[in-house]
Amino acid sequence: MLTMAMPALRFGSRAGIFVAAMAILLVLIAFVRWFWSHYRPTERLPPGSMGWPLVGETMDFLQPHSATSRGRFMEKHIKRYGNVFKSSLFGHQTIISADPELNKFILVNENKLFQCSYPSTITGILGKWSMLVLVGEEHKRMRSIAINFMNPAKLKDFFFKDIERHVLLTLQSWKDGDVLFAQQEAKKFTFNLMAKQILTFNPEEPRTQELMKDYYTFMKGVIAAPLNIPGTAYYRALKSRSKILDTLGRIMDARSQKPEDKYNDLLEVVTKSGSLTTEQVLDLVLNMLFAGHETSSVALTLALKFLADAPAVVQQLQEEHQAIYAARSFEKERLTWEDYKKMNFTHCVINETLRLGNVVRFVHRKALKDVYFKDFFIPKGWKVLPVFCAAHLDAGVYCRPLEFDPWRWQQIQEKNVYFTPFGGGNRLCAGADLAKLEMAVFIHHLVLQFEWKIAEADRAMAFPFVEFEKGLPIQINRRCFRPMQKQQ
Ligand code: HEM
Repeated sequence: MLTMAMPALRFGSRAGIFVAAMAILLVLIAFVRWFWSHYRPTERLPPGSMGWPLVGETMDFLQPHSATSRGRFMEKHIKRYGNVFKSSLFGHQTIISADPELNKFILVNENKLFQCSYPSTITGILGKWSMLVLVGEEHKRMRSIAINFMNPAKLKDFFFKDIERHVLLTLQSWKDGDVLFAQQEAKKFTFNLMAKQILTFNPEEPRTQELMKDYYTFMKGVIAAPLNIPGTAYYRALKSRSKILDTLGRIMDARSQKPEDKYNDLLEVVTKSGSLTTEQVLDLVLNMLFAGHETSSVALTLALKFLADAPAVVQQLQEEHQAIYAARSFEKERLTWEDYKKMNFTHCVINETLRLGNVVRFVHRKALKDVYFKDFFIPKGWKVLPVFCAAHLDAGVYCRPLEFDPWRWQQIQEKNVYFTPFGGGNRLCAGADLAKLEMAVFIHHLVLQFEWKIAEADRAMAFPFVEFEKGLPIQINRRCFRPMQKQQ
């Protein structure tokens, strides 16, 4: 009995040891995993402060400040913690990056390590098919429609003439000696242009004015607290959103009654392709109006402000554009694409405006995985904010960064890691070339026809949307420009 039991015992003890070893191993693995999730190398988490419970440091971060500064929050934190720091913003643990190399790394690793992640209030207003909200394949599909709508051939063949027509319409409405609100004029110009390209709405039509009115109420909701209660800006914005969508729906119905009519606008392209649902078309149209109008109108207003304070720059612009004008053949009163290509100094002015004005100051992302970059650790699930204005206004990158100095762009390559006014990676602004074209054509006719000065001191503020506090009042005077020596 005893001898019979011995091998079994021996076998039993080996199995016991094996089971015990496995159990210890499993406990060890579980412990390591637990330890890793709780005590992973937090010393490599960037330094920083998580602020108050729930709100974290959001209020400080959103404190309005001059658009040509990095703001008190960024200055204070960069000084204390360096270019990359942790915080708690909009209810999320967040890594804020003022490091241009990390920013570039974040942008080029979209969908691999990071993903676009705007606050949910944006979804409520811009809609769930907004390009700022979509990710992955859905984003790719919508983006390709936007890119195709503004591809280089279309800019040259369709947008170019229309931009000039809208610039001239705007400038023709200006009277010698007028005091105007530059921001309003720039908004009118960019809105009318986009309404024409997207919906074939002409500026003089009452429905364009109606759409613009609804659109501005809607816009106020993008930056309002998301309180859907009667009387609030957010509530009014949602109402305007439905009104705009109703209008667009009626246009689509009317068009479907007359399929033989041709429009050559974005609405026609997307409805005829049949690849989008009505809801997707409506969100796309609304988003293109938003993206194509808010940013470029602010950029144009900033250019007017910077130029008003820089007579030497205006003089060089006048020389460039007078030369272009004089070289134009007699019959061709309008600008040509070749003229546009000759606007070298104007492009320096545009770059410098975008660098100093910082129209889009930061973008919203989240980490899809644990990410290690240089000495930093970014945990999976954390929000990440690449702050572009930090590098644009960094004295270590740009000599005398607070000065408006377009000549610096004669030495700097436009494509560099420190200059990202249009973001980057596969979310690079789809309208970057269009925005530059609008600005260049506007500047051409403006400096040939007008002089302007600031009528009342004003400054651009980051709320974080950039806006002038008083709308930038300017006084304009017609120039006595004599176009001499025109080629016959
Ligand atoms: C000076 C003017 C402009 C500036 C500074 C600007 C800036 C930007 C930035 C930084 C982004 C990236 C957002 C992100 O990564 O989360 C963006 C995206 C976008 N912009 Fe612009 N933009 C300007 C003008 C325009 C214009 C005129 C249009 C024309 C409709 C436009 C259409 C878009 C679109 C469709 C996107 C989304 C791209 C995507 O998600 O793939 N933008 N813009």
